[in-house]
Amino acid sequence: MCGIIGYIGDHDAYPFLIKGLKWLEYRGYDSAGMALFNGHLSIFRKMGKVADLESYMQNQEFGGKTGIGHTRWATHGEPSDNNAHPHGSMNGWFTIVHNGIIENYAELKEGLVNKGYSFRSETDTEVLVNLMEYFYNQGTEICAEDAVMLALSKVTGTYGIAVLCSQESDCIIAARKGSPLSIGIGKGQFLIASDATAMAGFINQVVHLNDGDLVVLKKDSFTLKSISNKPVSVKISNIDIHIGDIGKGSFDHFMLKEIHEQPRVMEDTLRGRLQPEKSDIMLGGLISVMPDLVKSERIIIVGCGTSWHAALIGEYLIEEFARIPVEVEYASEFRYRNPVIGKNDVVILISQSGETADTLAALRLARDKGALVIGICNVVGSTLARDTDAGIYTHAGIEIGVASTKAFTAQLTVLTLLALKLAWERKTIGSLQYTQHINELAGVPEKIRQILLQSEKIRTIAEKHKSVRNSIYLGRGNLFPVALEGALKMKEISYIHAEGYAAGEMKHGPIALVDEHLPVIVLAPRDENYEKMASSIQEVKARKGNLIAIISEGDNDIREWVNDFIEIPETLPALIPLLGIIPLQLLAYHTAVYRECNVDQPRNLAKSVTVE
Ligand code: M6R
Repeated sequence: MCGIIGYIGDHDAYPFLIKGLKWLEYRGYDSAGMALFNGHLSIFRKMGKVADLESYMQNQEFGGKTGIGHTRWATHGEPSDNNAHPHGSMNGWFTIVHNGIIENYAELKEGLVNKGYSFRSETDTEVLVNLMEYFYNQGTEICAEDAVMLALSKVTGTYGIAVLCSQESDCIIAARKGSPLSIGIGKGQFLIASDATAMAGFINQVVHLNDGDLVVLKKDSFTLKSISNKPVSVKISNIDIHIGDIGKGSFDHFMLKEIHEQPRVMEDTLRGRLQPEKSDIMLGGLISVMPDLVKSERIIIVGCGTSWHAALIGEYLIEEFARIPVEVEYASEFRYRNPVIGKNDVVILISQSGETADTLAALRLARDKGALVIGICNVVGSTLARDTDAGIYTHAGIEIGVASTKAFTAQLTVLTLLALKLAWERKTIGSLQYTQHINELAGVPEKIRQILLQSEKIRTIAEKHKSVRNSIYLGRGNLFPVALEGALKMKEISYIHAEGYAAGEMKHGPIALVDEHLPVIVLAPRDENYEKMASSIQEVKARKGNLIAIISEGDNDIREWVNDFIEIPETLPALIPLLGIIPLQLLAYHTAVYRECNVDQPRNLAKSVTVE
């Protein structure tokens, strides 16, 4: 959360900063700001979106070939102009943008107040920048870089920072611990950003900073070292990001575009991996670890939010086919509970962004305990992708909508491939069943296309329910996590309270909520749980619940019992989650549009949760 961008070079910094901020807005959008150095330092900050900062700056005078910018997701201090970044130190010598949390800020602040420092904002960041100024003042031999290092040596917590010093205006100093930062290398210019994509079009090489790295960027060179002043080797990677990928196309929202991209995304995820002609699956990224995976005694899958829901489906798939015991954990719980992990365990981390703080902490914990760590990740070159022993990219392409859609189906696709491949290697699946699943998987993208054609019908269902306050989603087996994911989509973009339940749990409590005002969305395709779901539907119907059912094409029974139904094509039970989620994504989307919610940037959220 929070996006950082910085520029130093031969050109005016503003266009680079504003463009970068617009891209980074997915990381936080409650306020934005920038500082530009043009002989003197000018700071511009505005509560609201980057567009608000942009219009504000149209009436300001500014210039400069060095600058830093920030888009904020509030942690300490409410969204306001005053709490927006950049923050300047008391005497204006240092200016900082920061992503992360300084946990011991209260104690540090008290020390600075005792030394005569005063503060203008409620942020933890302002403490850090004043600490830099304090150290800078401790002796003429202390340069800006030393002051930054000294200040960082006193903080606990996480940070990605970019710092300007008005006394040493030929550089930007940046450092990382727990929050991503990459340097972009261009001709006569360097950039720094929380996400390399924010620099796309300007540079074609990057250096991803690792935790504990500090960089000093000058117009024509950069120096990378550790925050404790030790040498660090530089690894330059080429990046190939097409800024053209990033528009909404003919869609009103990124989320809708991304929902509609899912057939193609799934084809991309399967490409080269699913080999129907050989009746086999090839997972190139796992070749080196496959022997360990095959003999693993337990798999633990860890993630947050939507990625956690994908993990739950992965549990069903791997246990069903490969017969390896699987546990699924929220990264935020796993990291703090001293889990029992042995050397024969495999920990799979799932993350769209590859930068979720809790998931990365879980990764480190699992690695420290000796487990083999495997990543399932969308963002190429992200921390998760770099820090795992092996992994599989989901190839969903850039996902901008805060509500994850195509990344989820890509994660499910990868988990399905993994479960089947593991089963094949472990000989827990016969060749007939293996081939049958491979062939059926190849046809799933086309089936998703068919479901997408029902968007208009789903919109009319959404219209009927646009004003409800609560809703319930029910599923069984591998469709229980789909119910959870459908409910999450509804909550996060329409602000309707939505709960997902395992249908069998209804009568243990939640059924008390059912009345004629409550929409109950049931996943009831023809699978091994069909009869049981039919009973759950009858129980809700008997209490006058407003039933919306996801059913198999041509099911003439359930459609008679429910208020509305959406049909999905028949497929093998293991693959139904890939189809079942699509109508739920569309239902949430259309509901949010009716409620005039900001679909792509829902309140209080950010795309990438890089703080605890
Ligand atoms: O990037 P990650 O997959 O690690 O993100 C995990 C969650 O923050 C994310 O899935 C979040 O729940 C989404 N907003 C869901 O739509």
